Amino acid sequence: MKKIKILFSITAIATVAVLVESCHDKRDPGRTYMPDMAVSRAYQAYDANNLSKEGINYIPAPVEGTIRRGDLLPFDVPFDSAGYKMSASIQDPLPPLDSTQMAEAQRLFNINCAICHGPKMDAQGPLSASGKIPAVANLTQKMYVDMPVGTMFYSVTYGKNNMGSYASQLTREQRWMVIQYVKSHQLALAKEAAAGSDSTATKN
Ligand code: HEC
Repeated sequence: MKKIKILFSITAIATVAVLVESCHDKRDPGRTYMPDMAVSRAYQAYDANNLSKEGINYIPAPVEGTIRRGDLLPFDVPFDSAGYKMSASIQDPLPPLDSTQMAEAQRLFNINCAICHGPKMDAQGPLSASGKIPAVANLTQKMYVDMPVGTMFYSVTYGKNNMGSYASQLTREQRWMVIQYVKSHQLALAKEAAAGSDSTATKN
């Protein structure tokens, strides 16, 4: 009899507990019995965690001023008119690209730049031809053929008027590769364009 009483009271307590527990706000996740299951241990890199009051990073962010392995040195030219002038003296840090790297540079140019500058660098990309982006530079013009690589790198890094910055889309190395591609092709394309306009002139 005593056992039945104990069993009865345990059941009653459990029922009340279940009832009380089930009456709470449905959006409230309730008590956590096993925090391991509720709180993911899959920490994200560089995410502040709450393991300590200081919010120590599980994987700390790189120390300021450090460079990723294999990365080129930062482009230490300020984003202002003095920086633009200064950039003219900056040299391309890459050795001349081989044919595979040049093909990669062309691919990057066609993806990132040709939409405005056109695959022939004559400012006839779909965005400029449709008039959506006005005043796109025709890179086959003499002023761009003569433009120092450092100036080009500056403008591709920081952007210029209607052209945005490519610093987040292309690594420093990729930006220099694209500029080598522009430099190695713009003169030939300029000649091609001149020959093209000559032939139109003779036709008319
Ligand atoms: C959204 C259209 C657009 C895209 C995409 C674009 N450009 Fe431009 N670019 C422009 C415009 C517009 C100018 C003219 C800026 C000015 O002088 O007002 C320009 C100018 C330039 C210049 C001359 C910069 C100077 O200092 O006068 C270079 C070099 C250049 N672009 C290279 C590139 C390269 C390389 C890419 C790809 C990584 C690229 N552009 C992508 C629109 C674009």
